[in-house]
Amino acid sequence: MTADVLSVGVLNGPNLDLLGSREKELYGEAGLEGILSELDELGKELDARITAVQSNHEGELADWIRDVGARQDGLLVNAAAYTHTSVAVRDALLAAGVPFVEVHLTNIWAREPFRHHSLLSDIAVGVVSGFGSDSYLLGMRALASHLRPGA
Ligand code: DQA
Repeated sequence: MTADVLSVGVLNGPNLDLLGSREKELYGEAGLEGILSELDELGKELDARITAVQSNHEGELADWIRDVGARQDGLLVNAAAYTHTSVAVRDALLAAGVPFVEVHLTNIWAREPFRHHSLLSDIAVGVVSGFGSDSYLLGMRALASHLRPGA
């Protein structure tokens, strides 16, 4: 049974630590800290507690998924480039067995063909892609509704 206060893990993959300075025309002006503090605020409204990670290393992300992610009620996952390449992140998410929403700042299907395929989408509850930092907020609302059906 899901607790009253939801625990939500937020996974951020490689180069998302550079948000705010990285390809701003694509990813926008907001830094990751700003996005996470907006998520925290939304968490107060939704009765959800956020625990976030950012790593540039695939193994660290797999470890976080099994050690921390597996203990959350749900996850928001922006695996960044690993979305398109990482069987290890996919397998860790499958092993954790925790429902997750895949999020992307950009619309991955409107970009280079190698970004059109995600190794995570078919095991996600859903995907929010293309709304800049709002993708995280929309994903969080969608995840909370999924975890609290009918609430
Ligand atoms: C991204 C899209 C990925 O293709 C890319 O490698 C990223 C960010 C996004 O949020 O739009 O690093 O996940």
